[in-house]
Amino acid sequence: MNKLLRTPVIAGNWKMNKNCEETKNLIEEITPLVKKANCKIVLCVPYTDLLPALSVAANTNIKIGAQNCHFEDHGAFTGEISAKMLSSMGVEYVVIGHSERRMYFSETDITVNKKIKAAIKEKLNVILCVGESLEQREQNITFEVISTQLKIAFKDIINEDLEKIIVAYEPIWAIGTGKTATSEQAEEVCYFIREIIKQLYDKKGADSMSILYGGSMNAKNAKELLLQNNIDGGLIGGASLKSADFSEIVKEADA
Ligand code: PGA
Repeated sequence: MNKLLRTPVIAGNWKMNKNCEETKNLIEEITPLVKKANCKIVLCVPYTDLLPALSVAANTNIKIGAQNCHFEDHGAFTGEISAKMLSSMGVEYVVIGHSERRMYFSETDITVNKKIKAAIKEKLNVILCVGESLEQREQNITFEVISTQLKIAFKDIINEDLEKIIVAYEPIWAIGTGKTATSEQAEEVCYFIREIIKQLYDKKGADSMSILYGGSMNAKNAKELLLQNNIDGGLIGGASLKSADFSEIVKEADA
């Protein structure tokens, strides 16, 4: 079973939630609940919460990530934060290409590719998000959309850097809507993502890549999704803001 080659990853995407104090409290609550976990645990917090998060999560099995980065190292980009700045703080992960960034902040497949390269240069682990809209699914172009997103995102990324990249399949219609993809729908696309990675690289790269599902994953539906052959974990929004729900999902990933 190729799935056994991959360590499950449960990543929280806090989005624009929690101040510094709340961050410390939530991570302190989560820590004892997940300390025996075998899966990788990542919390992607707002930029302003990175320092307190890193400090509370030090010496625990929780890794800290950011939710975006700029592709230049520094310069006249008011309001932006570079991958270089993140790595210099001790941040280990960064989410790139989340659909909310693509939708509200005009990110394109091309900027996503530049950001991945910048993050890899800084030795950050990347959680690359791809996914189709409801309209695209209804037009039966889900696979074309995902394939284009992946081919551009991985342009000029060499085989040796694949181990730094996790792909999260997040159908836009399932994000924050309470409408989860069925485990069959999620598995079908995650399988397809692995096939594209195999085409772009090789079987070894595809077999060892962690592919996550994201979109209204919660303590109730996690089990079935995580049992699928090509789903190696989850990128969790809403449910990652509650310690009990998040730790339940971690337990399912370990089961
Ligand atoms: P959700 O968000 O779990 O609240 O649907 C997932 C995400 O956007 O990463």
